[in-house]
Amino acid sequence: MIDDKKVLFSGMQATGNLTLGNYLGALKNWVNLADEYQCFYCVVDEHSITVRQDPATLRKRARNLLMLYIAAGIDPEKNCLYYQSHVSAHAELAWILNCYTYMGEMNRMTQFKDKSAKHADNINVGLFAYPVLMAADILLFQADVVPVGKDQMQHLEITRDIAERFNSIYGDVFTIPEPYFGKAGARIMSLQDPLHKMSKSDENPNGSIYLMDDKDTIMRKFKRAVTDSEACIRYSDEQPGIRNLLDIYCACNDVTPDEAVKTFEGKGYGELKMAVGETVADRLTGLQTEFHRLEKEKAFIDGIIKENAEKAGYFANKTLRKVQRKIGFPDRIR
Ligand code: TRP
Repeated sequence: MIDDKKVLFSGMQATGNLTLGNYLGALKNWVNLADEYQCFYCVVDEHSITVRQDPATLRKRARNLLMLYIAAGIDPEKNCLYYQSHVSAHAELAWILNCYTYMGEMNRMTQFKDKSAKHADNINVGLFAYPVLMAADILLFQADVVPVGKDQMQHLEITRDIAERFNSIYGDVFTIPEPYFGKAGARIMSLQDPLHKMSKSDENPNGSIYLMDDKDTIMRKFKRAVTDSEACIRYSDEQPGIRNLLDIYCACNDVTPDEAVKTFEGKGYGELKMAVGETVADRLTGLQTEFHRLEKEKAFIDGIIKENAEKAGYFANKTLRKVQRKIGFPDRIR
């Protein structure tokens, strides 16, 4: 609890380009969470280097990601947006937790198996210990809830296991985090393969709308969206492509599927695609304008980076000091 509010923690990688799926499924719904939770959104640059990165690109993307969050409406005064590498407590607690985590547990992590298959020439110790750093992120802030996708559930479970193990030895040190479900965001599917989620790592760029796509690109991708031959606009499992377009329309306009189906009654697929394209382009153009405005506000963004790192550091260090005392590290002399 901070200021009578539960704590919400989320980390995001600054690799790949955010998609409309990330925006409608997560970001857009996080804007109002600060009313209810003390929210920490951490750009996890230390996780990013488990895969080789180009330094200039990593730096640029990390800054862009922070600005995109702000452009999407996450208020940096009410939410703590910061870089993992600016708060050294993350790495320090991760080291400690490494000593309370078993090789056997880490060996079971499916993401490690997937990533080592993908990066066979760079299976480094950091990649193996990735979930421990993630546990440190979450536990440092005594987070009550963590919004995670299905692919990160296993990491959240191991975080809970590590925290429980630690607590059982040293008493109540860590809050045991729960997954955050909240108001479900829309689950947006690929425009080329509506049975699979829209993903920032999709090889086919036509399947995903990226947040920085211009209007022409957005319209072109929607025009090419995969549909079916029913030639009738309904919201049903049998028409996953049409349903996905309707879901996008609904999420952008805050209307229900029924209302959307009514709007398009008797219309053709071409018209639906154009309308959804226009709606998305409108949304994203607004976000992009704000992003470009922020790009010019260097001092403002720098101020946020500095202040929020200090704020995050304050809470993180409180937990770290407690942990260090519990495990028997010598007291600091002040
Ligand atoms: N591993 C997460 C991902 O790739 C990112 C992450 C790092 C994270 N630390 C976290 C997510 C803490 C939630 C909480 O998506």
